[in-house]
Amino acid sequence: MADERSIDGRKQKTEPERQISPEKQTEDGRLDYALRPQTLDEMIGQERLRDKMRILVEAARARGESLDHVLLYGPPGLGKTTLSHILANEMQGNMKPTAGPAIEKAGDLAAILTNLRKGDILFIDEIHRLGRAVEEILYPAMEDFVLDITVGSGPSARSIRLTLPRFTIIGATTRLAMVTSPLRARFGVVERFDFYSKEALKEIITRAAAKLEMPIDEVGAEEIARRSRGTPRVALRLLRRVRDFAQVRADGYIDQHVADTALAMHEIDHLGLDDLDRRVLDAIINKFSGGPVGLETMAASISEEADTIMDVVEPYLLQLGFLDRTPRGRTATRAAYAHMGVLYPERPEQGGLFG
Ligand SMILES: Nc1ncnc2c1ncn2[C@@H]1O[C@H](COP(=O)(O)OP(=O)(O)O)[C@@H](O)[C@H]1O
Ligand SMILES: [Mg+2]
Repeated sequence: MADERSIDGRKQKTEPERQISPEKQTEDGRLDYALRPQTLDEMIGQERLRDKMRILVEAARARGESLDHVLLYGPPGLGKTTLSHILANEMQGNMKPTAGPAIEKAGDLAAILTNLRKGDILFIDEIHRLGRAVEEILYPAMEDFVLDITVGSGPSARSIRLTLPRFTIIGATTRLAMVTSPLRARFGVVERFDFYSKEALKEIITRAAAKLEMPIDEVGAEEIARRSRGTPRVALRLLRRVRDFAQVRADGYIDQHVADTALAMHEIDHLGLDDLDRRVLDAIINKFSGGPVGLETMAASISEEADTIMDVVEPYLLQLGFLDRTPRGRTATRAAYAHMGVLYPERPEQGGLFG
């Protein structure tokens, strides 16, 4: 089994444990953890990615080698951490989780690396947030499994080279563009997570409901799936909110009406947009005349973090075709206006080019 301990006691102090295992903190979190698929076969959706991972795992196993370094990227909640655990399980290796912001100094990373054993998997979440000096230690470690450290100081300082056991790094990031190219180049495998289809989400919801012994019908599951913005984490969260409602108002049984009423109560609309998504669209359309508007300006206008908007809100709005990213900023599309019930202004300067 994968070993869950964190490897760096200091991180608890500097960054809350949220960085390491956000899912395990609350009652909801414990459920999430119990629902996590353990093998590639148990994982739902992401077929393209799973096929590649199967080949990777089987080839490494057949050669008796450790897994090549893997970089996983995509919006939050799509299964990057889950897949990392699965890969550790499939390789029967120990999983050592940490996160970019938790590794502050080169020495922190050196301590982590020298504690690894052959076949261990070092999972680095938010790998785009590693510091420059830390990254530089990582390059030779990933490439040649060596660690250069300086002992002593001043004129008596000297450099010694330690050989590391063959280990695997799995990096995860929501921001591939922020991973430096020398770091990216050291991953043998770089893979993107796509949003899930409604069918896959429906299956994730149905299986979770079965594990939690929650009665739910097809249409109820479909209703939740449709509003889960392509994201398993959201699907499971909505399922729990619907379950609460069903317990209090509907004898625990989830059908379409119960799902619909519960989600409407949480202000999740039929496309899965929540209050924040709508405030973003409303700001672009009404405060900035449809754009283009820069991310920071728009975020400030609704008092939200630009990072949250970029990681969580925008990928889904882009996917829906509600948002365009142009070099001059974000613009709301005709479809976004329609969804928000605002008349689309015809723009003469664009009419010539596109109209
Ligand atoms: N393919 C999947 N099948 C079933 N459940 C999944 C799948 N992918 C993710 N989940 C569930 O969704 C939640 C979020 O996944 P996680 O791996 O934490 O996402 P990320 O690390 O990309 O933010 C987890 O609780 C996990 O159980
Ligand atoms: Mg994660």
